[in-house]
Amino acid sequence: MENRSALPNTLSPLHKKRIQKRVLTPYEINHLRKYGLPQIDLSTIGEKPVEYITGHAEFYGLDFLVNSSVLIPRLESEMIVRLAVNYIQKEELAHPSIADIGTGSGCLGLSVAASLVKQNTPYTIYLSDTSVPALNLARENAGRILSSPVNLFFQESHLMDDYPRIKFDIILANLPYIPSKNITKLPRSVRDFEPLSALNGGPDGTTVINRLLSQIPQYISDRGIAIIEIDDTHDLNSFSLPEKLQASLTRDLFDVPRFLIVSLKV
Ligand SMILES: C[S@@+](CC[C@H](N)C(=O)[O-])C[C@H]1O[C@@H](n2cnc3c(N)ncnc32)[C@H](O)[C@@H]1O
Repeated sequence: MENRSALPNTLSPLHKKRIQKRVLTPYEINHLRKYGLPQIDLSTIGEKPVEYITGHAEFYGLDFLVNSSVLIPRLESEMIVRLAVNYIQKEELAHPSIADIGTGSGCLGLSVAASLVKQNTPYTIYLSDTSVPALNLARENAGRILSSPVNLFFQESHLMDDYPRIKFDIILANLPYIPSKNITKLPRSVRDFEPLSALNGGPDGTTVINRLLSQIPQYISDRGIAIIEIDDTHDLNSFSLPEKLQASLTRDLFDVPRFLIVSLKV
């Protein structure tokens, strides 16, 4: 209660006026209703995303817990799951080994796991992050989403630094990729509420992804692929691709180039 009444006093009069004007979208109204919060005092929530208010976000048809230590999973990223599951089917990988780097809520790795369970395909999945609170939440989501969460490993690791030396068939990564100078231009609902460590990709937004690319040759299997989400201001030339790798770009559901698909050169 104290926090609620203190909040408006920390805001400028202009900001207060803007917040008082917040109008919920039909999606936000439905989301709040679904989680039992049909009536909400808009003057107390500022521009807080509704997912952080309810603590839930839907991704790939599944219900994920979210909190301020993780990014709210985005609709565009669902295609990473689809690409991974289709690749596993196409290549007839009988027991794929999968790494989800920068797992956050666990949405990518756990959605792939849920799809493979439905197909009776056994798997081994590593979910990793530098953030311990994020890993704790991913673990909680695993318990809720998978009836028997087996062959899941939660790893605190800067990229793949602390991974065991195994080869992965699928490497999934949605790492921070926003150029630092663009962070202040993000909507307040993002920059004031989502973790900066999930967003800031360094001066030109490629620092973290380039570092991962340099590690991939050691960790990818001969038939493996890495699917890496990128900023829409980037293209293939934005990245430093190690000699051993080849890469192509795939568009998201909004027809924006969004995913780097990386494999060993044949
Ligand atoms: C954009 S969020 C993506 C979260 C989730 N995978 C998703 O798609 O919603 C990026 C995540 O990468 C983590 N991260 C940032 N830098 C990292 C690094 N160097 N190594 C591992 N994880 C990192 C952040 O803590 C954050 O959880």
